[in-house]
Amino acid sequence: MSAPITCIEDLRVLAKKRVPRMFYDYADSGSWTESTYRANESDFHSILLRQRVAVNMEGRSTRTTMIGEDVAMPVALAPTGLTGMQHADGEILAARAAEKFGVPFTLSTMSICSIEDVAAHTTRPFWFQLYVMRDRDFIERLIDRAKAAGCSALMLTLDLQILGQRHKDIKNGLSAPPKPTLRNLVNLATKPRWCLGMLGTRRRTFGNIVGHAKGVGDLSSLSSWTAEQFDPRLNWGDVEWIKKRWGGKLILKGILDVEDARLAADSGADALVVSNHGGRQLDGAPSSIRALPEIVQAVGSRIEVWMDGGIRSGQDVLKAVALGARGTLIGRPFLYGLGAMGEAGVTRCLEIIQRELDLTMAFCGRTRIEQVDRSILLPGTYPTP
Ligand code: FNR
Repeated sequence: MSAPITCIEDLRVLAKKRVPRMFYDYADSGSWTESTYRANESDFHSILLRQRVAVNMEGRSTRTTMIGEDVAMPVALAPTGLTGMQHADGEILAARAAEKFGVPFTLSTMSICSIEDVAAHTTRPFWFQLYVMRDRDFIERLIDRAKAAGCSALMLTLDLQILGQRHKDIKNGLSAPPKPTLRNLVNLATKPRWCLGMLGTRRRTFGNIVGHAKGVGDLSSLSSWTAEQFDPRLNWGDVEWIKKRWGGKLILKGILDVEDARLAADSGADALVVSNHGGRQLDGAPSSIRALPEIVQAVGSRIEVWMDGGIRSGQDVLKAVALGARGTLIGRPFLYGLGAMGEAGVTRCLEIIQRELDLTMAFCGRTRIEQVDRSILLPGTYPTP
């Protein structure tokens, strides 16, 4: 019998065994030297917690709200592209796990399963993440499709007007589905579970795009289409236009600078996500946890400030909350769970994080999320504005 899965690292190790190399590498990598990718995690480690004793720890709860939605803990699944390549029907499985657990799921524009696929297999409204493309008709149709599917919030990603260079993806010739090269076929032969799953689904390429965007009828045209389509002209005027067109709750993702945070708050959005895209865009940018306190201080009273990047445990979630995050997103942790064990793996990921969050909160002498502030952290060990 295999050893029990007790932490996110166990899921990562299992995912590495089970997921084809190009997709595992796509998840487990950052841009250029990966220094920001690494700092996202390591900066959490240098923050120390104050242990308290002889405090009544009974009746604890990790429940709270994010943009008015009840959540089992201040954690949502981040939008991640190609999730249906970590495991067949990955977006549907992750959305179902999130729904059963009681946390929000965000579907990426660059997902394999479409908005309609995920809506057909879930009952709780999910969030839709939008990338702004040059083809504005396509964007309008995407927004309308998200509305029709009952999505309860739109997450607009602002930090991918251009793509940060990721060496591994270029070297691996990343594509969905993988091209039948000798190297890929040899690697796929060692991943029988993954292959069987893929043979059992018809969802093997970008479901929101192929067949919906002009000029993208088949796979050969998709990569050139995305390279051409991400819009380098994106600006705050577009944010206003999208907000109007959407008309519902809006989350702005990819804010790292305090000036941008002020503009995000001025835009009237409901939340902003302090994020460096998991260290996949500007290498050399600060870690998200380091950027968080200054942004909270500047705009925390006007807009919900969330963060993502580097969260690998419930302790990290608690540290982010202590520094003022009203919510957090996790990307790779749930992707590892998905690659390792499908829906059960995403559920396991959420259980692990919630348990760690609950126990750490107790060790710090708090029983509710609302009681958590920077007084649970050791002075001098955490970033300040
Ligand atoms: C991402 N991220 C991302 N963000 C986004 O807005 N749209 C997307 O399609 C993607 N795609 C994507 C793919 C993969 C494989 C990863 C790892 C990340 C960024 C994501 O939403 C989030 O910001 C980071 O994943 C957070 O960092 P951690 O939790 O992965 O450390």
